[in-house]
Amino acid sequence: MEQKDMIYEGKAKKVFNTDNPEIVIVDYKDDATAFNGLKKGTIAGKGAINNRMTNYLMKVLEEQGVPTHLVKEIDDRRTAVKKVDIVPLEVIIRNRAAGSFSKRLGIPEGSDLKCSTLEFSYKDDDLGDPLINSYMAKAIGAATQEEIDLISQYAFKVNDVLKEFFAGIGIELIDFKLEFGKTADGTIVLADEISPDTCRFWDMKTGEKLDKDRFRRDLGDPEGAYKEVFARLGFGA
Ligand code: TMP
Repeated sequence: MEQKDMIYEGKAKKVFNTDNPEIVIVDYKDDATAFNGLKKGTIAGKGAINNRMTNYLMKVLEEQGVPTHLVKEIDDRRTAVKKVDIVPLEVIIRNRAAGSFSKRLGIPEGSDLKCSTLEFSYKDDDLGDPLINSYMAKAIGAATQEEIDLISQYAFKVNDVLKEFFAGIGIELIDFKLEFGKTADGTIVLADEISPDTCRFWDMKTGEKLDKDRFRRDLGDPEGAYKEVFARLGFGA
């Protein structure tokens, strides 16, 4: 497979065309941003960790019946994936109160929730990815009811699988963000990444944050946190 022109550069990844019109290559960067790009930095080694961690977890999810965009890991930082139209919704699942949920609802971070929750944000950087509900998402044409139902079903399935999976390595999955895409034939698949950039991981024993909050909140040594999760997944540090 031959890498061609760059078609997109986001905050954490670049995307390139290939000689196959149905496949693109994602190239993960070490760049880190927070607060919609206001805070900028680098987390050394993050690109390679996020690439390989995402692929590992997507394989686990595929085995559990969640279709993903994954085609093939190319090298440390690059992966071939199905070309999709990204559904312009960030799908956030929460198992424990944290981050914007705690802030918006005045519920202290770390509080138990009576059940897991799902929320959608409209993917639009200029608007700061505002929270929207499924009626609004339908009204603006971001997704159909059928797509919203399927995406929600997949997102809760991802939660069931990953919560148990991370518990097995001593990590509590507090919350995470998913993105879905539509392939050329209209099939909805899990896309984007699953990594410490997009999940909150707390050590089950100590409560230590092992995710991008270490960068967002200047808690120190984000590199060490990413490496720790990676090592617990069985990838030697
Ligand atoms: P939040 O509490 O800031 O809404 O974040 C919820 C989850 O979504 C958290 O695991 C981090 C992830 N997330 C992203 O992946 N991208 C983003 O731009 C934001 C704000 C959060």
